[in-house]
Amino acid sequence: MTEAARQFVTPLSLQVASQDRVYTSLFEEPMAHISLPAKADVMVVAPATANTIAKLALGIADDLLSTCFLSFQGKMIIAPSMNWKMYENRTVRKNLDTLASFGVLQVGPEAGALACGEEGTGRMAEPADILEAIRSVLTPKDLAGEKIVITAGPTREYLDPVRFISNRSSGKMGYALARAARDRGAEVTLISGPSCLKKPDGLAFVGVETASEMRKAVVEAVAGRATVLIMAAAVADFSPKTKSAKKIVKTGEMALALSTTPDIVSSVSSQAERPFIIGFAAETGRHPGRAAAKMKNKKMDMIVFNDVTEPGAGFDVDTNRVEIIDGKGRTKLGIMSKYEVADAILDRFIEIRA
Ligand code: PMT
Repeated sequence: MTEAARQFVTPLSLQVASQDRVYTSLFEEPMAHISLPAKADVMVVAPATANTIAKLALGIADDLLSTCFLSFQGKMIIAPSMNWKMYENRTVRKNLDTLASFGVLQVGPEAGALACGEEGTGRMAEPADILEAIRSVLTPKDLAGEKIVITAGPTREYLDPVRFISNRSSGKMGYALARAARDRGAEVTLISGPSCLKKPDGLAFVGVETASEMRKAVVEAVAGRATVLIMAAAVADFSPKTKSAKKIVKTGEMALALSTTPDIVSSVSSQAERPFIIGFAAETGRHPGRAAAKMKNKKMDMIVFNDVTEPGAGFDVDTNRVEIIDGKGRTKLGIMSKYEVADAILDRFIEIRA
């Protein structure tokens, strides 16, 4: 803890919260500025004030934190936090650019209410996002060189400007795949239908609404020499045959004529030069056979069978329970977080492509 940090929180509070020793001064233990960094895999400065950022950028070493930074040789993350006008200041920006050129990863800051009572960009990133950055820098980059296009979320098929047909997909599975692939070093393009989830950092993001918009975005992204396409999106199978330009007036019962939407996977799998294709099959019941048939019919290389009626699986939950089916066999997984499911799918991809 720096001297400024101790104005806000006592060392005792952090000692209790972390159940670990808290260091505050350069001289409280001989050589702590060498021995502490030597034991660490990653160094995180959160929150990082404008003053600390300047010291780190210039190599000023006048307290325990700044001396630790100079002797530390591993991965480094900073989470800036300050007033929005200070964050926009040219010197602060220059110092952040200098740290980025040293390979220091910056997380945040975010926009919102600031400690000074003003609104703006300067809030420290959420702890969950800082944790995600830590996981990302520590993950081995076994997908470096891969260009992976991932779809997520539902699509919306409009009847009129205010009404649409959609489904229960939250985007959680597709976003977890995008984060896992990014953390493992892949260049990721995430194409997402409407979702409340926060856009992940460190990847290209394309927002779409309808199945035909998603198809266009996928075809364009794959043409950018994608090596893998993962279709986790719950694409609408049907769309209203006609779309009214104005809100349809209620006059009593109404019958809706639907036509089928374009099959996105098939428009990519039919191409001569195509990426490795991983699809999902959402079923209401144990029908791995149907999933395998979908894989064959749509010419996919792998499919993830997802019985969305199982507890803790499918739509809008943080966990999933799936079976991975490919040309070499079937791998049934237990219940796990969607990020772990994503890792298992990517592991299997690496295994069968080897
Ligand atoms: O988003 P979450 O809340 O986390 O939920 C995750 C999920 C349940 C949506 C996800 O795990 C999942 O199962 N996604 C696929 C849903 C689906 O559309 O399955 P399907 O069996 O109807 O389609 C088979 C495959 O064809 C899918 O890869 C689908 O993306 C693709 N498809 C479908 C229709 C269409 N017009 N074009 C397609 O490419």
